[in-house]
Amino acid sequence: MRILVLGSGAREHAIISALRAENAGHEITAAPGNAGIAMDVPIIHLDPTNGNVVTGFALDNDIDLVVIGPEAPLVAGVADRLRQRGVAVFGPGKAAAQLEGSKTFAKRIMDDAGVPTGRAIRSGNLAEATAALDDYGSPYVVKADGLAAGKGVLVTDDRDAAIAHATHWLQYGTVLVEEFLDGQEVSLFLLSDGHTVLPLSPAQDYKRLLDGDEGPNTGGMGAYSPLPWLDDGFVDEVIETVALPTIRQLAAEQTPFIGLLYCGLIITGDGVRVIEFNARFGDPETQVVLPRLVTPLSGLLFAAATGSLGSHPRPEFTSDVAVTVVLASEGYPDTPETGRPITGLDAALAVEGVSIAHAATAVTGDELVSIGGRVLSVVATAPDFAEARARAYRALGAIDLRGAQYRTDIAQRVAE
Ligand code: AMP
Ligand code: GLY
Repeated sequence: MRILVLGSGAREHAIISALRAENAGHEITAAPGNAGIAMDVPIIHLDPTNGNVVTGFALDNDIDLVVIGPEAPLVAGVADRLRQRGVAVFGPGKAAAQLEGSKTFAKRIMDDAGVPTGRAIRSGNLAEATAALDDYGSPYVVKADGLAAGKGVLVTDDRDAAIAHATHWLQYGTVLVEEFLDGQEVSLFLLSDGHTVLPLSPAQDYKRLLDGDEGPNTGGMGAYSPLPWLDDGFVDEVIETVALPTIRQLAAEQTPFIGLLYCGLIITGDGVRVIEFNARFGDPETQVVLPRLVTPLSGLLFAAATGSLGSHPRPEFTSDVAVTVVLASEGYPDTPETGRPITGLDAALAVEGVSIAHAATAVTGDELVSIGGRVLSVVATAPDFAEARARAYRALGAIDLRGAQYRTDIAQRVAE
């Protein structure tokens, strides 16, 4: 297949690695990609959020399937433009992508579909938001309504900080005040063709910057898969109570969801609740889910894009486990220091079971340098979590990036 992958993060690198691992002779192009992706496949410098440019490239190059990695092109309507011109695309159109792009829209869909989620109040004024904070009580949960690159959510015991966060984001629009949901978090990815869904293996993401879930929320500092502590039947329960009702609601509104439905869930004492939906693969969860996938990824994505998931068997996964640890720049998430050399990748890759997905890297001269906050995802697979952790951290120890930070407790709780 001729496949175009849009995006430039570690998630897209992991998607491309999974497609290459099929050894099916796919011709893969990435746009715009990054320095690590460019070591594996040709990259093309086009704006992935420009639907006309992407569609023109796909038509000129006889692309069989476009895979949209990040949310920005989805929210910009790139998938709509491709579909209008008859190009198979994995990723929802602009309307269905509002499931991620607008927390208010997501809450409305969940209400109409009867999907279990926390109570929330949306408000455009501070007095109302403050009243909601006091109504739900501590810990306080305040969210910006639109896309905020992982920075829009504050969970805190500090009422003044909650009010300050609401005040800040109210300058840009509305905020959501939510009740706090207590429990383990699960990221479950479901492939959707608009009518039916197929689940991938569950993963857990570590959103906070520091060990012990301290520090600010980030885009994600590490992940592991599978989740050995999950009840049998969990995935089917989420399909029945969350994914299918959501997909059916969107289909009934003439905005079918074709792509990856990312269910961000919390398992509370009262059952599963949705904390967020995303309209794309998660980062860094993808880096631990796809290396374990046995079923060819291209066939799954193509079946979703072409409305034929119903006749596709459920994806299968190896019994090996996977752990990923994100190497982030000094100062991340607020003010990442960039432009610093990265060395030691060859030694890291020499560790058994280790691969590296690049995110914010570039080559200048003959040096690999950091160009953003989350720089690399170090991924290790192994028969068990203790070994996967040992491999991942051995590889991280071989990498040198001045001032870099990473968590040391990824997957610790399942390795003991
Ligand atoms: P979100 O961007 O909505 O996924 O929120 C980021 C993180 O904040 C989540 O992964 C949770 O760890 C936490 N969070 C968000 N909403 C809630 C909530 N209602 N209760 C508890 N934690 C939450
Ligand atoms: N890992 C969280 C996200 O992709 O949104």
